[in-house]
Amino acid sequence: MSDTDLDTTARTILTDNDQGGYTIPTKGLYPYQWNWDSVFVALGFATFDQDRAWRELEMLFEGQWRDGMVPHILFRKDDPSYFPGPSVWGTDGGPIPSSGHSQPPVAATVVRDLVDADATGQSLDRAAALLPGLMAWHRWYLSYRDPKDQGVLAVIHPWESGRDNLPDWDDALRAVEVKDIEPYERKDTSHVDPAMRPHKEDYDRYLSIMAACRGVDWDPAEVARSCPFFVVDPGVTFIFLRANRDLLHLAEKLGKTEEASEIRGWIAKMEAGAKILWHDELKAHVALDQRSGKQTDGISSASFLAPYAGLTDGETLGALQAHFDRIAGKVRYLMPSYDPEHKSYEPLRYWRGPVWAMINYMIARGFAEAGDKARAERLRADTAALVRESGFAEYFSPETAEGAGGGSFSWTAAIWLTWASPSHVEQAA
Ligand code: GLC
Repeated sequence: MSDTDLDTTARTILTDNDQGGYTIPTKGLYPYQWNWDSVFVALGFATFDQDRAWRELEMLFEGQWRDGMVPHILFRKDDPSYFPGPSVWGTDGGPIPSSGHSQPPVAATVVRDLVDADATGQSLDRAAALLPGLMAWHRWYLSYRDPKDQGVLAVIHPWESGRDNLPDWDDALRAVEVKDIEPYERKDTSHVDPAMRPHKEDYDRYLSIMAACRGVDWDPAEVARSCPFFVVDPGVTFIFLRANRDLLHLAEKLGKTEEASEIRGWIAKMEAGAKILWHDELKAHVALDQRSGKQTDGISSASFLAPYAGLTDGETLGALQAHFDRIAGKVRYLMPSYDPEHKSYEPLRYWRGPVWAMINYMIARGFAEAGDKARAERLRADTAALVRESGFAEYFSPETAEGAGGGSFSWTAAIWLTWASPSHVEQAA
């Protein structure tokens, strides 16, 4: 297929997965609105329909909880082909049935991108309408995912990280006691090859964490205190730090001085806090289990998001460039979700090795902003090669380019349109 045909297919995927203002990640496997999927999807829509891009974000914020949280899944209509559905989550925090935790807060960054890309200035009103929701969500993250005020954010469930099956969660997950779960039937393994999905022992614990949170009615302060899983995630932390910089830009542009000064405080705190995640021997930022106090021992693709978060000091950047080149010597396509030299690496099991287009996009953005255009371009070229090879798969093998997980996947299509496609590069030039 030519690149122009791929552009057309990508647009068709977005419009086919459109449910009337919000977009599902893919038919079958993920039949609802997912938080960060929608935000990347907005970037894709923005390449051909600005209004529809804004609608995606607005519909996501329609599901915001009273306490400020923006859920990871909005169950706008019941779909029995997905498990665990609304009755298993048992939440009551917002106007739309939803899951009980959040997902990486990319939204402020994309709102800023949409505003910056709109020469007419008309988007500013829509950004202004979203600003209070964004502020409330960011405050929620700081209150309930950083209860010790350390400047780093934890996730209370592997799914909150968006990188569900990452080896970084293994030890913390194993420590979760399996209890209070009913017999259940998974649906994911009937849509895709079980060899690419998590094991049953993991699923039992995913559900046990949900049961524990349900037991405290998803009260966020109580969840922070007693949830059996509470792991600081460099991915969410870096995405949040970056999002705060973009939120600050928006607040300044909108003349919101009080909000701007509040956000400046968050940024300073997070810049200092990120140091907690630095692993001296590995020379990278890694996850930290707050319950056991242990750092994890592997480099994930989120370690490469430090420059995206604006952490571009010489030591961090130099170390990441060295890891980048080392990993490039091990696999054909960058960036594997986990270090291919780590014992837990699996090239096709999700989040234990495969490449995700939207992670590549964020890493590349950070490297380009830090002045490393060559490595940024390598990531773009690899992402384009994966799509040319295997189409708009959910994720790809870093070794063979094989596409895996769901097909006709919205965020892969969106990232192609907004970044990886040569037609985009031409337009941007
Ligand atoms: C998987 C991914 C998560 C994503 C969801 C929908 O659960 O791990 O990041 O949001 O699928 O695409």
